[in-house]
Amino acid sequence: MTASETGKKKRAPRNRTIDLNEQDLSKFRSRLMTVPEIRDAVSITDKTICGDLFQVLEKLPERSFDLIFADPPYNLTKEFGVESFRQTSLEDYEKWLDSWLSKIRKSLKETASVYICGDWRSASAIQRVGMRYFTLRSRITWEREKGRGARKNWKNAAEDIWFFTVSDEYVFNLEDVKTKRKVIAPYTENGEPKDWQENTDGKFRMTHPSNVWTDITVPFWSMPENTDHPTQKPEKLLAKIILASTNEKDLIFDPFAGSGTTAVVARKLGRRFTAVEVDEHYCLLAEKRLAMAEEDGSIQGFSDGVFYERNTAPTRAK
Ligand SMILES: C[S@@+](CC[C@H](N)C(=O)[O-])C[C@H]1O[C@@H](n2cnc3c(N)ncnc32)[C@H](O)[C@@H]1O
Repeated sequence: MTASETGKKKRAPRNRTIDLNEQDLSKFRSRLMTVPEIRDAVSITDKTICGDLFQVLEKLPERSFDLIFADPPYNLTKEFGVESFRQTSLEDYEKWLDSWLSKIRKSLKETASVYICGDWRSASAIQRVGMRYFTLRSRITWEREKGRGARKNWKNAAEDIWFFTVSDEYVFNLEDVKTKRKVIAPYTENGEPKDWQENTDGKFRMTHPSNVWTDITVPFWSMPENTDHPTQKPEKLLAKIILASTNEKDLIFDPFAGSGTTAVVARKLGRRFTAVEVDEHYCLLAEKRLAMAEEDGSIQGFSDGVFYERNTAPTRAK
């Protein structure tokens, strides 16, 4: 089934997967930007560019972006709507990564951060290419609880998100991404709580966020952010990255936007975005999600400035 046919699927009553109807197609098509329309940073701000990244790269303005979140096709054979990606050798995947990352460099501000997603197989390629242009800061391991079991191997249930910066001067808003954890052993000192607080939810501590993320689920059918995109990233994951590595009004670039998660979270958190996606159906889903974000700014698993240990029910942020 191609992406453009997914809107015709019959859904179970509690299934909240976002679909496109006939009205959506005409409404959201008019909001998409095409490659010839790209002029300067203003022209591409808060836009979904429907086109091939390699054509877009030729026209990107210099020193404009504060953050790049790149979730490229992994080195696996996979269908993305009308596009498909063929698994290749690690060497060729590395060359492909280099072919776009090298061109993005000039469009970044000196204070920018770069996040690149990948799986364990392509880890060495991503690290090498990233370090060619940027300073490596960390590799986040995201434990996704979904994964196919294997008879003679460990089930792969993790993805990497590599964190680089352009220079030593970069944004990291630690206080905005601390994790709220239940206190198991509530130590006291002179009768006072030691590093913990108490409210109606119980005893908790705000801890430094580590590079192992176990508190984020893959979007699934009963979640309001879910679409039919085969590799959609969770909004909560983008919220952590965007809050940590940007300030309000900063401009975020997503070169492989898919269903538009980066753009949607940027909007919900008062940042700006430029998103590029080659498949029109996914661009339209992104636009629909952006319109929905105007009505409901909530992010599942994050509310009142707090990331919860598990997905919590969405609360309205507006
Ligand atoms: C891993 S998915 C990104 C998913 C996205 N993070 C989300 O949350 O929905 C990669 C996307 O890159 C798109 N893509 C692949 N090659 C592209 C190219 N040359 N230009 C623009 N988009 C491309 C695919 O269509 C696919 O939707």
